[in-house]
Amino acid sequence: MYKVAVYSTKPYDKNFLQKAAQGHNVEFHYFEDSLSEETADFARGFEAVCIFVNDRATRHIVEKLAANGVRLIVLRSAGFNHVDLEAVADHGIKVVRVPAYSPYAVAEHALAMIMTLNRKTHRAFNRVRENNFSLNGLIGFDLHGKTVGVIGTGKIGSIFCKIMLGLGCNVIGNDPYPDEEVRKMGVTYHSLEELFRQSDIISLQCPLTPQTHHLINKDAIHLMKEGVMLINTSRGGLIDTKALITGLKSGKIGYLGMDVYEQEENLFFKDLSDQIIHDDLIMRLITFPNVLITSHQAFFTENAMKNIAETTVSNINQFLEAKALDNEVKSEKVHA
Ligand code: NAI
Repeated sequence: MYKVAVYSTKPYDKNFLQKAAQGHNVEFHYFEDSLSEETADFARGFEAVCIFVNDRATRHIVEKLAANGVRLIVLRSAGFNHVDLEAVADHGIKVVRVPAYSPYAVAEHALAMIMTLNRKTHRAFNRVRENNFSLNGLIGFDLHGKTVGVIGTGKIGSIFCKIMLGLGCNVIGNDPYPDEEVRKMGVTYHSLEELFRQSDIISLQCPLTPQTHHLINKDAIHLMKEGVMLINTSRGGLIDTKALITGLKSGKIGYLGMDVYEQEENLFFKDLSDQIIHDDLIMRLITFPNVLITSHQAFFTENAMKNIAETTVSNINQFLEAKALDNEVKSEKVHA
């Protein structure tokens, strides 16, 4: 049996991975801790580690993994910004990922955030439970006719464009690699500046790279419409959180939906309800009535979990059988 150390295991990960491994030569060993300097030695005796979005594979951690005999890093995610790909290449370690487990799940979660923020169903739900049937403060707007700016029109972004076109929105995009199919749907491509100026709703659907780090900063927010809605289901590092808070306080940002947060690895996926949170930025964000935060759950559907587990097993099998790795991530790859 080929033994794989699985980091950041939650009960649902175990369920889906166990099912996917049945009948294969793969044996998963589960660790609840995330991969870090302190936990890299758990991998001693394993040739492969399986990690998720908030595990860190920095150069130092990769060195430790290599010294422990690890030859393969199996990502249970599409994004790979948490892995130092050069360090990995230097140590001859291969990296595989799950390129598209359910782009629908993420695009649909972005829509859920827009609908909730706009129509304030989360507040209505709580009010009605307390026999408060008043509509004061619950007013929304028709999405029909609004301009939606989509930054990154890849697998998730293109599905999101289709959904928003279906609602009668005017959809504009920005992507260094414009997609002809997306154009044919009716999306027009614009510069980032133009997209910031024109959009009523802005949705981030691009990867986190050195080029996209803090794409949404003070200058970008300055260009946006008064009261703009901003949705981030991609990666926290795309947004400068301090600039965001300034934008929310001034009213420039009228609504914020975020499924990802720059410092999320200390918080997300954990129950911290009986602890004091030391991150003042997220605590400030939580106080705004027009901010909706979910803890990186956009991907979290049955379909996606099944796809992640099955692709993970298939990625490991390809490596074991010395076949070409369909889902290999190489250091020169910025997007796929
Ligand atoms: P993809 O690779 O299919 O599409 C990304 C698109 O972004 C590509 O068209 C690319 O050309 C574009 N892009 C690259 N640099 C850009 C830039 N500087 N400005 C504008 N566009 C740029 O990736 P996919 O599958 O659509 O995923 C997008 C991102 O969503 C992932 O990188 C990941 O960070 C995030 N994600 C979040 C999940 C969640 O649960 N919240 C789950 C899965 C992915």
